[in-house]
Amino acid sequence: MKLLVCGGAGFIGSNFVRLRAGEHGDEVVVLDKLTYAGRRENLSGVPHTFVHGGIEDAAAVAQAMEGVDAVVNFAAETHVDRSIAEPDAFVRTHALGTFVLLEAARERGLRYLQVSTDEVYGSIAEGSFTEESPLEPSSPYSATKTGADLLVQSYTRTFGMETVICRGSNNYGPYQYPEKLIPLMVLNALHGDPLPVYGDGMQVRNWLYVTDFCAGIGHVLAHGAAGEVYNVGGPDECPNIEVVRRIIALTGADESLLTYVEDRPGHDRRYSLGSEKVRALGWEAQVRFEEGLERTVAWYRDNPGWWEPIRSGAYREYYERQYGSSLG
Ligand code: NAD
Ligand code: DAU
Repeated sequence: MKLLVCGGAGFIGSNFVRLRAGEHGDEVVVLDKLTYAGRRENLSGVPHTFVHGGIEDAAAVAQAMEGVDAVVNFAAETHVDRSIAEPDAFVRTHALGTFVLLEAARERGLRYLQVSTDEVYGSIAEGSFTEESPLEPSSPYSATKTGADLLVQSYTRTFGMETVICRGSNNYGPYQYPEKLIPLMVLNALHGDPLPVYGDGMQVRNWLYVTDFCAGIGHVLAHGAAGEVYNVGGPDECPNIEVVRRIIALTGADESLLTYVEDRPGHDRRYSLGSEKVRALGWEAQVRFEEGLERTVAWYRDNPGWWEPIRSGAYREYYERQYGSSLG
């Protein structure tokens, strides 16, 4: 199979390309704009063809789509805090970018998988979201991801195009950019820097090891029915404060680094995703949170060559804008 993977130089995309080009022996073309979150290094040693460009750029999309059998779209702006500070790129990439990709895939009769998120459902106090739960996004990130999902579904309903949507819960694992909770806390703990917990730290996330999400996407790509949505949730839920305490224990950092900071505006309290529908396709999560977190901490500890250039670059400016220079 020849696959076009958009956003394949990012965290989940690069893990997906590694799986497909390695274990599955697929031919992979990566289309990526290489924003702050995309890095060619994430794909080193992985066979692929690389096209540098945005999904909103019709010429780059046409070049990347030549001869492919299916499109998997990971390309997105993905950090909720950045969407609150500067939402413009979120609107452009999720709305216009998804539209340009859909048009090009429709013209060529290609199967299309949109990678989406549990955040489109908003927050849930008890129980778990199903694919039928109402869409109630809270942030500019999740609202624009929701818009993209609806556009994708319209292409099946209106044009009969073969689309599927895969909604994942919070991913973690190797190659995640350190603006996100787990890698941020791991690197700060390793450096003896403060660990900034938003609000009371009792927000709950449903943690999914990245290779489990990639396997779920593979199942949906192969067996998902056109026009359908499939949730892919992790096996464990955990409040943020407990995640941070576990990281303190795994890194041997000092408890006094824990610092409560101002809460995120519109902060969703709890995510929980029911995955029965994707299980019926034969998928099952393989990695429990305890084991996945140990592996993730070990990966960051063993790969300073990956994160040192990030921490000393533009990330520092972002960090100071977001947390203030006192936290770092
Ligand atoms: P990431 O930020 O690590 O990577 C995003 C990638 O997309 C980068 O390589 C970036 O350069 C590229 N990109 C951004 N804008 C682009 C554009 N206009 N054109 C082409 N490439 C562009 O993100 P991630 O965490 O790997 O997330 C990948 C996808 O999975 C996203 O669609 C996200 O919404 C979804 N998702 C993420 C999670 C999570 O926990 N990280 C969970 C569920 C779903
Ligand atoms: O649920 C899936 C989503 O998970 C994806 O769609 C998003 O792309 C991805 O970024 C992630 O969103 P979250 O907002 O849940 O992830 P983040 O790592 O930013 O935050 C996780 C939790 O930790 C959240 O409750 C906010 C909190 N947090 C985060 C940071 C960065 C802190 O308490 N302190 C922090 O410094």
